[in-house]
Amino acid sequence: MSIIREVKEESKRQALKRISVHSHIRGLGLDEKGEPIRIADGLVGQVEARKAAGMVVKMIKEGKLAGRGILFVGPPGSGKTALAIAIARELGEDTPFVMMNGAELYSAEVKKTEILMRAVRRAIGIRIREFRRVYEGVIKELKFALASHPFNPYVKVPRGARITLATKDEEKSLEVDQSIAMQLAQLGVRRGDLISIDADSGEVFKLGRVKGVEKAKYYDVEAAKVFEEMPKGKIFKEKEVIRTVTLYDLDEAYAAQKRAMISIIGIGAEEREIDPEIRKAVDETVRKALDEGKVTLVPGVLFIDDVHMLDIEAFSFLSRVLESEFSPIIIMATNRGITKIRGTDIESPHGIPLDLLDRLLIITVRPYTPDEMKEIILIRAEEEEVKLSKDATDLLVKIASERSLRYAVQLLQPAKMIAEKKGREEIRVEDVEEVSKLFVDVTQSVELAKKWEDKFLK
Ligand SMILES: Nc1ncnc2c1ncn2[C@@H]1O[C@H](COP(=O)(O)OP(=O)(O)OP(=O)(O)O)[C@@H](O)[C@H]1O
Ligand SMILES: [Mg+2]
Repeated sequence: MSIIREVKEESKRQALKRISVHSHIRGLGLDEKGEPIRIADGLVGQVEARKAAGMVVKMIKEGKLAGRGILFVGPPGSGKTALAIAIARELGEDTPFVMMNGAELYSAEVKKTEILMRAVRRAIGIRIREFRRVYEGVIKELKFALASHPFNPYVKVPRGARITLATKDEEKSLEVDQSIAMQLAQLGVRRGDLISIDADSGEVFKLGRVKGVEKAKYYDVEAAKVFEEMPKGKIFKEKEVIRTVTLYDLDEAYAAQKRAMISIIGIGAEEREIDPEIRKAVDETVRKALDEGKVTLVPGVLFIDDVHMLDIEAFSFLSRVLESEFSPIIIMATNRGITKIRGTDIESPHGIPLDLLDRLLIITVRPYTPDEMKEIILIRAEEEEVKLSKDATDLLVKIASERSLRYAVQLLQPAKMIAEKKGREEIRVEDVEEVSKLFVDVTQSVELAKKWEDKFLK
């Protein structure tokens, strides 16, 4: 199992994401009956779609959706991606959730079907029970040491962290390495969260929150489990844990083992693609372990955003996946109506072949009212620690209605910089006006590019 652990760590490291525009979303914001609370878990409005998404989560957890798909349809900036992320948060750590964009398929190095296959296998979990040594406690303090991202110097990533964990009986400070720090950042843990760090593999798990250590933000309805009291006992201990690895982790572990063996023999093999034989062998082993009751299967979710970017080959691959024995739940999103299926001359709803459409439950999202946009902008402002004057807020809402919500949200950070340069903390109307001139939205940039094209082509 130790190889699996190492590989899993590596794949987590690769999955590192930047602080995203959806970081305020903590769940679907539903009450116990599954009814959406108008503003909760960072989500605003979009009540019908959230209710439907809540039912989807229930069906996924009960295993009633395997082999089926969900499609979110709606205009740009209406929260399709946001809702898919909310579903991921509701499913919890244990259910694999893999997110990709349709455009990611077109890589020069790896075949489309290979990219899809990897994503599919990442989205299928295998649950294993075992005894592990862990550091477990409530976060009292967390400080990141930051460094530039290896590929993108404008993005800061954690290089390490210092963390203080506490229980009723003990308090311990740990210096953790980059891989653990990145997981802490990715999980978005903060003071008051109860976490567990695997002493051998370095994996981090968020177990919930403990009441009263830290005040909640105003839009918080905790998706995480809430504990009334500090846990008791030692921070470093042994306990039975249930871990979930994915088929992808197992493929990689098997491939790594094989590579190691080959390199001992002396044939240096550097493969980009995983041999189908390896996947077959992994499937076989998993099937056997399932039969013997040693592990359980956890079908996860593969989310494909901008699904109209897929071509006919990719769609037929997905149809086959849905029919296969190990299939994740596929959630897709698109903002297209009737459009050509890529790679063909056939027009189809949302650019998706009809046979696949037949297997999808479709959820529509609708455009926001100005009031809803205002709430969303205020939540983003709080999340990004930006102060807005009343007039500046109104102007941003106007920009969101006229251009797009996403564009308005993106203006927050530059507007904050401009306000700060003028020695103010609060963003005023003039700052928003200034940044909306400095940065244009997509429609404007396309218009400009067209205008220039005309000039050049004459
Ligand atoms: N109901 C909502 N509550 C809170 N925030 C939201 C909501 N809907 C959207 N947002 C936020 O507004 C921004 C734009 O939404 P999002 O990117 O999800 O739209 P989209 O429908 O996926 O658009 P596109 O078609 O352009 O991909 C994001 O920052 C998102 O997190
Ligand atoms: Mg989107």
